[in-house]
Amino acid sequence: MSLAPSGPPIWKRGGMPRAHSPHTQPTRADAAQNDGLADLHERLERATADLDPPFALVDLDALWANAADLRARAGTRPIRLASKSLRCRSLQERVLARDGFAGTLAFTLPEALWLARHSFEDILVAYPTADRGALRELARLPVELPRARITIMVDSVAQLDLIDAALHRAGDPAVAPIRVCIDLDAGYRALGGRIAAGAKRSPVHTPDQAAALARAILARDGVQLVGIMSYEAQIAGLGDAPPGPGVGSRLRGLAIRAIQALSARELAVRRAQAVAAVRELASLELVNGGGTGSLHLTAREPAVTELTAGSGLYGPVLFDSYRAFTPRPAALFALPVVRRPGPGVATVLGGGYLASGPADAARLPSPYLPAGLRLDAREGAGEVQTPLLGATAERLAVGDRVWLRHAKAGELCERFATLHLLEGDRIVEEVPTYRGEGQCFL
Ligand SMILES: Cc1ncc(COP(=O)(O)O)c(C=O)c1O
Repeated sequence: MSLAPSGPPIWKRGGMPRAHSPHTQPTRADAAQNDGLADLHERLERATADLDPPFALVDLDALWANAADLRARAGTRPIRLASKSLRCRSLQERVLARDGFAGTLAFTLPEALWLARHSFEDILVAYPTADRGALRELARLPVELPRARITIMVDSVAQLDLIDAALHRAGDPAVAPIRVCIDLDAGYRALGGRIAAGAKRSPVHTPDQAAALARAILARDGVQLVGIMSYEAQIAGLGDAPPGPGVGSRLRGLAIRAIQALSARELAVRRAQAVAAVRELASLELVNGGGTGSLHLTAREPAVTELTAGSGLYGPVLFDSYRAFTPRPAALFALPVVRRPGPGVATVLGGGYLASGPADAARLPSPYLPAGLRLDAREGAGEVQTPLLGATAERLAVGDRVWLRHAKAGELCERFATLHLLEGDRIVEEVPTYRGEGQCFL
């Protein structure tokens, strides 16, 4: 059995809060939820009446409520902000100005260099780099920006060789060592690999392997070991309450929860041992772990000095399926109804903003408001148009808008140049996304 963090379509479609299923009798809670949705819909429509869709919006009230929830679950640990999950420099600056958040978890080295030039100081690049030009730029950075601290990720000697080659070929020795962090695999393995959970990331799994890589780093000039990171994707990125009334989803939920519990127990021990083994060789500035879905669990591990989170701020659909927390949908996008092909169908412009991961229905965006719309299973969300079905479609006219949610967090920002920021009843600002600033890192 394999429980990858992004397995088959286990995520429920539709938003939180969401309308009751058309196949069940509405309860009083459903009614209250639907009233809440109707209020939100009215507020969104009023605040954006002068805007022409398509456009994207971030509800700051929801975002700050989500930030407070992340902080509460993180306990005393600082949260490093996963920039890939926001992709909006202005919002990242605002979040980092808040208590409880410190440092950026970047997704590429060019991004980290760009952020450093915009005064971001503490940046951990979470994924290994093979960008020789960016490495040479990194080596020269201390001259230009002495306060910037960029750390890059390594999980093998191959990356150390690449760093060496890039720097020596430059004929320009680094003025300060390149800061590196060891990526420790947080995956769970049992029964000789027959049970496996986690993303295929680092080959460094055991404390001995971590110590061996630490020794290899320490034996080299030009690099400095400053930390260990291990991201438990199978817990942090996999909802433990798969949607759906069927026995299948109940069983899947049980299996996920059982394996997550085993994995958390195993990882706490192995991570502590790996950190101790490496600390015997070098003093570490940071031990990073966790993600939106696991803050409350990873925060319990004494070996971990800081956590990471990002997606929980926007609260996308894939984060609706966790028992421990319920983020408010903060990032939405509005599309215009441009035609009515027939009864019960309203077609909006664009909409095919798919999330990365296995190509299943859970990666599609979800119609959110007005409630009672669904994608057409045969067409999904299209490049230029998306038909929406359901009783509500009958009430929509050309020129009306439909609000949707992305399955994931920051990827939405690759589709829009700006985010309109909603506060209370009005749009208070329009800020550029990475894309709007002409940046496209991945
Ligand atoms: C290394 C690492 N840490 C943490 C996270 C968690 O980020 P988020 O809270 O946005 O899910 C991720 C997400 O993929 C990651 O790759």
